[in-house]
Amino acid sequence: MKTLYCKGIIKSNYPIYISDKENFEDLVPLLPMTGKKFIVVDQAVISLFPDFMKIFELEDSYIFPINASEDVKTFDKLRELASEIHELKPSRDDSIIAIGGGLVLNLGGMTASLIMRGMPFYYVPTTLTAQIDASLGSKQAVNFKGAKNWMGMYNDPEFCYVNPHFLSTSTKKEINSQAIEGFKLCLATNKELYLQFANNLQHFNSLTYEELHHFVEKMIEAKLPVVEKDLLEENYGMSMLYGHTVGHAIEMLDHTNITHGEAVGLGMLVAAKISNLLGLADDKLITTHNDLLISLDLPNKIPSYISPTSIIELLDYNKKN
Ligand SMILES: NC(=O)c1ccc[n+]([C@@H]2O[C@H](COP(=O)([O-])OP(=O)(O)OC[C@H]3O[C@@H](n4cnc5c(N)ncnc54)[C@H](O)[C@@H]3O)[C@@H](O)[C@H]2O)c1
Repeated sequence: MKTLYCKGIIKSNYPIYISDKENFEDLVPLLPMTGKKFIVVDQAVISLFPDFMKIFELEDSYIFPINASEDVKTFDKLRELASEIHELKPSRDDSIIAIGGGLVLNLGGMTASLIMRGMPFYYVPTTLTAQIDASLGSKQAVNFKGAKNWMGMYNDPEFCYVNPHFLSTSTKKEINSQAIEGFKLCLATNKELYLQFANNLQHFNSLTYEELHHFVEKMIEAKLPVVEKDLLEENYGMSMLYGHTVGHAIEMLDHTNITHGEAVGLGMLVAAKISNLLGLADDKLITTHNDLLISLDLPNKIPSYISPTSIIELLDYNKKN
């Protein structure tokens, strides 16, 4: 198991364990030895990884399944979770283990951060987005009144356990759309790494497990220095929001399940086009974005039912506006 470290907002850093164990057994000794464990877990993970879930068949573990969809990532859901945990009379020895995609990590992390001014929490990311992006950095958030991640805070997990074997159940479409956060990172901060993968994008559609593991590891290694340099995303770190301004608006306005990655990909294309109109980027940058989206089979046009006006209106509620 490889161990890297991510700079924290309260802790000087927290470990990111990158595991290769198909049976996830190396997670067991890392889990807290004492206290109740509140397992906030994506329902999909419960269904897809029954053997993994056996790790949590313990007397002091309580399972809270989450049906992951953006309309569940709310303050109401957080309140419901907190109420259920409150019933169990938690103490400061107890912890939340958030297992799932970025949505469950954000919801679990934010809930843990609010209970008793913060109980320890652990991340087990199970999607590509969560492994290469959402679990790195200290951002916790829920949506509020249709505005994406509008209520939130910064707080650090105790550790993050990344195991690319969780990605074996993601479809090609999911892998491609979630890889966008990685390509965003590369386009914004690491051209060489971008070219390493982008020069052979067709092959991205048929990655072996080893290649996917390599992609995950490279993206984590590339993101950690960005977090280190500007955790609060006030200057350099703002590059991680690339594509998210318009992307978040599309995500909230969509009725057809555009994924987070698809929305961010569209947002990046819009950003490139605006830069081009402002004379800050050449036409080639637009082509680069178009080629990326087309090669990954991702949409390169905003659905017609989402009007430019509705996107612009939602930007008023973008927390970085
Ligand atoms: N805090 C941050 O820095 C940050 C960064 C990126 C994204 N995010 C947030 O994360 C969310 C997007 O994350 P996401 O793309 O992981 O989406 P998600 O958490 O909504 O998961 C996407 C889908 O994958 C399913 N899933 C989870 N694990 C699976 C597995 N192993 N196999 C198959 N399906 C699985 C889920 O049930 C869901 O249907 C958004 O809410 C976004 O705001 C936060």
